[in-house]
Amino acid sequence: MTQTADPAPLIAPPGLAGVVVADTALGDVRGAEGFFHYRQYDATGLARDHSVEDVWHLLLRGDLPDPETARAWRGEIAEQLLATDRYGEQLTAVLRAAPTRAPLSSLRTAISAYGVLTGDEPLWDLDDAAREQAALRTAAAVPWLVAAAYAVGRGEQPRPARPELGYVGNYLWMVTGGTPDERAVRALGRYLCLTVDHGFNASTFTARVVASTGADLTACVVAAIGALSGPLHGGAPSRALDALDQIGTVENAAPWARAQLAAGQRVMGFGHAVYRGLDPRSELLRETATELGGDTAELAVRVEKEVVRVLDEAKPDRPLRANVEYYAGVVMQECGIPRELFTPTFACSRVIGWTAHILEQARGRKIFRPSSRYVGPPVQ
Ligand code: ACO
Repeated sequence: MTQTADPAPLIAPPGLAGVVVADTALGDVRGAEGFFHYRQYDATGLARDHSVEDVWHLLLRGDLPDPETARAWRGEIAEQLLATDRYGEQLTAVLRAAPTRAPLSSLRTAISAYGVLTGDEPLWDLDDAAREQAALRTAAAVPWLVAAAYAVGRGEQPRPARPELGYVGNYLWMVTGGTPDERAVRALGRYLCLTVDHGFNASTFTARVVASTGADLTACVVAAIGALSGPLHGGAPSRALDALDQIGTVENAAPWARAQLAAGQRVMGFGHAVYRGLDPRSELLRETATELGGDTAELAVRVEKEVVRVLDEAKPDRPLRANVEYYAGVVMQECGIPRELFTPTFACSRVIGWTAHILEQARGRKIFRPSSRYVGPPVQ
């Protein structure tokens, strides 16, 4: 038998930067233009004029709903929220069994348990309708579980869902226990719409890798939550707000930023892997934070200018601007979301994008299986 040599490998750049690894009809990020879109619509325009529920329908079902479809769709989401409520006792027991002050870790554990309780099956074995049902069920459970994990972490009983308040209103109610005010619902809704999807970021890519194996949808989401938790991805907003607290006054901003750089630290909430200039999400969130008002928003706007000046001096060839995380924390704080829930709240919106990507990936039949280059000692 003749032996054939392995084909010469293609060497991907670090971080796979600029490498196209899949086709998607869900959206795209155009870094150089400072623009991103969900399907064929400008995402910032959707965040201004549409609800999270509308954007969810767009990603999962392919179009923006007309008023009648939107009503029916909200009913489907409400049903799923109430379905999570029905597992409340078991889910609360799981959360109590692994108590943590890190609600994202609790979410990872509890969503895994929810998949077991609801009998989630491998995507490989499901038809399109069953896959979509799993996607809706799992995404709708995330805000419930985040709020429940927070309550349990504080020794409290989770609040039952109130779906009549809408997706955002219900989340605010479950977290704060108060009737959400309209300004907060609108501002948080904008943040959530803006963060539903964003190209092949690390967590979305992770979800798609797991989906490519035919695993169940819960497994894909659990893996994505793990990727999101890192400070270079979704873990930055609380750190950005911690930094604002440390800075305290605008006069301290430049010396603080210089000291960070001198110590080899990154300034959280600045820079982006794809945007080479402005991040359109931070632009809209700056506007939203300013509309909400308050001392933190005012400080954030002034500190941003100072930090950008210092970063420009330090990295003249690489514009580092405020990213989505910088104003995310300011907006969430003003809406009454506690700091430890910033990244979990990000998960509440991004799970909509993850699940849409998972369904898209599951329709293909090719497993992700790249190669590595061996750089260890020569083989004996
Ligand atoms: N502060 C200081 N220096 C920075 C920062 C920053 N925030 N961001 C990048 N740099 C530096 C890098 O260290 C690198 O310097 P070097 O060439 O001397 O090593 C240079 O700028 C270029 O870095 P990039 O290639 O642009 O950065 P990369 O694409 O690898 O990383 C990232 C992007 C992870 C977002 C980075 O900018 C960062 O760590 N920012 C802070 C953390 C953060 O805000 N994360 C949230 C991102 S948004 C999201 O995931 C939803």
